[in-house]
Amino acid sequence: MAEKSWEILEGACLSCKKCRLWETRTNVVIGTGNRNADILFIGEGPGQQEDLQGIPFVGPAGQLLDKMLTAINLTRDDVYIANIVKCRPPGNRDPHSDEQEACLNYLRYQLMLVKPKIIVCLGRIAAQAVISPDFRITRERGIWHDRKGYKIIATYHPSALLRDESKKRPAWEDFKSIRDMYQSIK
Ligand code: URA
Repeated sequence: MAEKSWEILEGACLSCKKCRLWETRTNVVIGTGNRNADILFIGEGPGQQEDLQGIPFVGPAGQLLDKMLTAINLTRDDVYIANIVKCRPPGNRDPHSDEQEACLNYLRYQLMLVKPKIIVCLGRIAAQAVISPDFRITRERGIWHDRKGYKIIATYHPSALLRDESKKRPAWEDFKSIRDMYQSIK
């Protein structure tokens, strides 16, 4: 049953032309990891490497994300990773709001299938789409929200940590909080 639902999602994504991003994509980047994970990470959208390989977070930001997961005793096999938009915005620009809107039902469907207990928004774009449109990442990261049965938190996007070392310490605090929440729901 779940298998069939995943096939439906994949079919819909692979043929999707709901926004302009299909015109420039190499691959649709749907998601990766454990389909029964208790924790689901949401990024912004595929970058160059992700577009080429069809897998989320395989470029430099992904390598840093892997290290951060390892630091809290998680691997990609423990988590599910998806993005707000499933096709690469050209030149890695922010996804436009109509593109996010067009794609959000796929993420909703993924949430319905994975049924995570914890959702981690990586960066402002994911936090604004999932938590609140006026979310301010610098002020509001690290705060837990209870929404529709999910525990939700936002932290800096790993790309932001690569650009600005000073964000690494607060991001590490957030990851420790994520580790504690994960242990508490086990
Ligand atoms: N950045 C994202 O937000 N998502 C990816 O999949 C890769 C980089």
